[in-house]
Amino acid sequence: MAYDVNRIRSQFPSLDSGIAFFDGPGGSQVPISVGEAIAKAITQPTSNRNTVTLSEQNAEACVQGYRSAVADLLNCDSQGVIYGRSWTQLTYDMSRNLAKEWGPGDEIIVTYLDHDSNIRPWIQAAEAKGATVRWAEFDVETAELPVESITKLLSNKTKFVAVTGAANTLGTRPDIKAIAKEVKNSGALFLVDAVHLTPHAVIDFKDIGADFLGFSSYKIFGPHCGTMVADPALLERVKNDKLAPSTTAVPERFEFGTLPYEIMAGVTASIDFVASMDDEAKGSRRERIVQSMNALEAYEHPLFEYMESQIQSLPGVKTYGHAKSRTPTLYFSFSGKDSVELYKHLAKLKVNAPAHNFYAFEASHKLGLGDKGAMRAGLAPYSTKEDVDRLVEGLKSF
Ligand SMILES: Cc1ncc(COP(=O)(O)O)c(C=O)c1O
Repeated sequence: MAYDVNRIRSQFPSLDSGIAFFDGPGGSQVPISVGEAIAKAITQPTSNRNTVTLSEQNAEACVQGYRSAVADLLNCDSQGVIYGRSWTQLTYDMSRNLAKEWGPGDEIIVTYLDHDSNIRPWIQAAEAKGATVRWAEFDVETAELPVESITKLLSNKTKFVAVTGAANTLGTRPDIKAIAKEVKNSGALFLVDAVHLTPHAVIDFKDIGADFLGFSSYKIFGPHCGTMVADPALLERVKNDKLAPSTTAVPERFEFGTLPYEIMAGVTASIDFVASMDDEAKGSRRERIVQSMNALEAYEHPLFEYMESQIQSLPGVKTYGHAKSRTPTLYFSFSGKDSVELYKHLAKLKVNAPAHNFYAFEASHKLGLGDKGAMRAGLAPYSTKEDVDRLVEGLKSF
């Protein structure tokens, strides 16, 4: 296993800016190969996708390349890969589709831990159909979302459950495999928001056992778009609205209008980059992704422990995420210091660590942080100890 952070950093032109990026949970920096793949795809001969002309074949190759790259990243069926402009757009679309089957007496479950894109669309769809919403609580002291917080709400009325794979401010990684098992036993559909988990861990969709799962490419080296995956056999059964002449085929039926071939080529390149992070990784792309993500976790874990211990040693600090299993993302504030002013102070030192609720809106309110939230410092694959030291020095100098 070889994780050479300097070799990885050399691939990111934006790091030449001298900025220390702790805003990766909001969106990662992008390697040069991804920019080149987007430029190539949009400037090569391109038409609407088909199989006759070279330009049609190029467009088709971008779509198929994207689906098979995502299948390798998540271990899912390439024909169950749905492209979307963002994860939020995908959850909104799917909420309206699934709600076609919901009505009074039916129940859905959401959590207070989730990003609002995995709460509000489901609530609004349920309310429109007269279905009941049940809320799973997380422990505000530990930030854990125990499996029982979901199972105690399950009943034969439950139609759908949405849970985060990792919380984007607190970092909590609920036991989604155990939750999936219980939800499936109850007969409900289970969806996992893996937007914050995918940049930090190996995702095995088939092993998790969820019905739907998704991520956003711009959080993991790619362009700004989202993806939702499901078993194609399940997608065949989901009803959705579509244009009369557009295809009934899965997954295309869920993707509206002409696809952005160049963005899809960028996603493929970003997944190829993930597979290359461990430069000794061997085998199929899926095998290299697994080795690279394991190497990344082994790199990020001690760096995160260092960052957390350094920040926890600062006077007046309060940290909020304490779950046993979590991503390298720290949410914190200082008594008597305004988080937004601190964020602005750090920006002057070329250290990016914003302060907000980051759309973990319900969680922010549960923690007593209101709409304003707190500071977030998240590690990314290009983060270094020097970056962490600059962050800590910056926090001290405010
Ligand atoms: C956990 C999580 N879910 C969902 C989203 C929203 O993703 P998108 O911008 O693709 O809609 C984010 C973005 O911050 C996130 O961190």
